Amino acid sequence: MSARAIVAAVPITGKSVYIETFGCQMNSADTEVVLARLGDAGYRRVDSVAEATLVLYNTCAVRDHAEAKVRGRLDAMKPVKAKRPDLRIGVMGCMAQREKDEIIRRYPHVDLVVGTDQFVRMPQLLESLETRDHVVETAFGDFEDRLWDARRTEGINAWVPIMRGCNYNCTYCVVPFTRGREKSRDPAQLEDEVRRLVDEGFVQITLLGQTVDAYGKTLGDGTTLASLLRRLHRIDGLKRLRFVTSHPKDITDELIDTVAELPKVAKHLHVPAQSGSDRILRMMGRRYTRSEYLHFVERARTRMPEVELLSDFIVGFPRETADDFAATVSLMDEVRFAGSYVFMYSPRPGTPAVNLVDDVAHETKRARCNHLLDLQLVHQGQAYAKLHGATRRVLVEGASKSDDAMLHGRSEGNLNIVFPRMDVTGASRDHLIGDLVDIRIERSTSLTLFGDLAAPVMA
Ligand code: SAH
Ligand code: SF4
Ligand code: F3S
Repeated sequence: MSARAIVAAVPITGKSVYIETFGCQMNSADTEVVLARLGDAGYRRVDSVAEATLVLYNTCAVRDHAEAKVRGRLDAMKPVKAKRPDLRIGVMGCMAQREKDEIIRRYPHVDLVVGTDQFVRMPQLLESLETRDHVVETAFGDFEDRLWDARRTEGINAWVPIMRGCNYNCTYCVVPFTRGREKSRDPAQLEDEVRRLVDEGFVQITLLGQTVDAYGKTLGDGTTLASLLRRLHRIDGLKRLRFVTSHPKDITDELIDTVAELPKVAKHLHVPAQSGSDRILRMMGRRYTRSEYLHFVERARTRMPEVELLSDFIVGFPRETADDFAATVSLMDEVRFAGSYVFMYSPRPGTPAVNLVDDVAHETKRARCNHLLDLQLVHQGQAYAKLHGATRRVLVEGASKSDDAMLHGRSEGNLNIVFPRMDVTGASRDHLIGDLVDIRIERSTSLTLFGDLAAPVMA
């Protein structure tokens, strides 16, 4: 976008915020919280920089690529700020937490840098800009639940962070630095929040945490993710509960049993394996072996044959040999995940792994990444083909993004399923949005399952 295009053409009245969000669902959830706090302070949300009096970037630091995108945005804002000196520019999220005042040094046109525990105070921090040139606020703090109320717009799905931070120290990972120590939220507060969300029509709740299955540990009163799931499960009107992301070490039998027993809890576990090689897992500091991971898979599948498993993988970790990579390929072959996110290793400043030479060539990383992505698609295609003729319970989320004539929803295992928006008589089925329906699967691509209602639904 040219500087001219993002300089306001008409005078802006009132306070307005344009926010761009990078990174994971934690960041999306934080965006909803900061919008709520700014809303309380009289800001309205706008869709372009040109209409905004405040521009916020909610940033991710997990890989250099994520930070490069933000650097690009900040470079582009320099001429805009020169033309509109009153425009406030803020950086929040994980990159803000990691770089702190370094951001102001490099981009003096940025007004404020706000860390991952401080953005709930955004209105006050903006006020303090009236007397100061820059504000950098990145201390880690405690929860004040009142401040963490979010403004949600999506309609069916709500994401609820149940904890913040991470107490693991995977050697490649910046998250413990950007999000601080693990802190679990109070289960009674969470129950209240979920009750309110369900009353507002959010029938699918996804509980968020970096190691969500470790939820409760810091409360010290025996609360676990399993006990929280049981508590939330009782809420009338709630249709589905999910949780992401789990660490393999924290998946207890109690948790697996609870997921298996409670009908509203989706049979879907996102449990990143990262690598199939014990040597690499050790260097990554993951605290489990390949065989322990496979044992978890067996435990989960014995208890819930229909469970869908999702993983993350990092390729090209320092010293990853062809044999190490082959072990990851064979792990994928053995488990056959419903989905995999695959990332090329990116050295992150301050993490222990930067002391290891990033010695896997970029082309090798790319080739290994593509190999795993291709393999995942093969597995998915084969698994989907086996589902032809089967029925899955789908929570209908809305019109399909790629085809307006179809509705889309997700199965318990989080598989993307679409079906015709109109019945044979031409009547709209939009009234099913937000409902659970049984869909008989007829055909598939490697990304989507296509089907139709298994039985007619009475209006
Ligand atoms: N808390 C989650 C994941 C957090 S980050 C967990 O522990 O599973 C999301 C994913 O990014 C990780 O699972 C990992 O696969 C990837 N990732 C993290 N740091 C990375 C790095 N330095 N380079 C490449 N990928 C990385
Ligand atoms: Fe990062 Fe490991 Fe914590 Fe996940 S568990 S956020 S990969 S340190
Ligand atoms: Fe998420 Fe990126 Fe931070 S993945 S926790 S926004 S570093």
